[in-house]
Amino acid sequence: MIIAPSLLAANAGRLASEAERAQRAGADWLHVDIMDGHFVPNLTFGPHVVRAVRKATRLPLDVHLMCSRPETLIEQFREAGASLLTVHVELGSRVAPLLWKIKSLGALAGLAVNPPTPIAEVRPFLKQIDLLLVMTVNPGFGGQSFIEETVPKIQQAAVWRRNAGLDFHLEVDGGVDFQTVAECARAGADTFVSGTTLFGQHSLRRAIRKLRQIAERHAPAAAPAAATPRLVAVA
Ligand code: DX5
Ligand code: ZN
Repeated sequence: MIIAPSLLAANAGRLASEAERAQRAGADWLHVDIMDGHFVPNLTFGPHVVRAVRKATRLPLDVHLMCSRPETLIEQFREAGASLLTVHVELGSRVAPLLWKIKSLGALAGLAVNPPTPIAEVRPFLKQIDLLLVMTVNPGFGGQSFIEETVPKIQQAAVWRRNAGLDFHLEVDGGVDFQTVAECARAGADTFVSGTTLFGQHSLRRAIRKLRQIAERHAPAAAPAAATPRLVAVA
């Protein structure tokens, strides 16, 4: 199980020390939401922020690009220290070259799917990816409620992964709290992004431990191959 606190919910006045705190608290990865004000109606971090965070922590940086033109950004975010870069399937015919570009830069490649987009759209790419991100809220803002209708998409993706003998991470993002994490784990997710819930607790360490325990308790008996993390802390 991978627990990835979302930097979006951290104290924006001191992101580097928040990243350090997440590492000390036992996070596996740090999730970094990049919004461009066009693909989603909000703006967040640029490569310079990712570079500062990279210096502050050894955690793998799971960089989620909610951007209309990731072509112009991937290289900069990789140079800034992104370990894994995720693009959205809603970009259509540009997805395959984007995944290829991410891999050619030596990063892991992720593919995200928004709640209204059918899960079938990711199917042609499953062999090419290291991570599938099933969005459990409409992207753009932290602190939204989990959309229950996304759970069958997680189940379907887990079935495809098992039947094809693939081992990509199955990640969920948005509204993941101490209740919804159980449903996601039961459906087959193994990688959990959580912002508001984790950073909203007095003890981040205890919150991460609790989220992990609930996820482990509800995981299907036959654990997926992706239980082995592909990314470990950088030197
Ligand atoms: C939503 C972002 C999420 C967000 C999750 O657009 O992609 O990563 O940070 O935050 P919470 O856990 O607050 O829903
Ligand atoms: Zn995200």
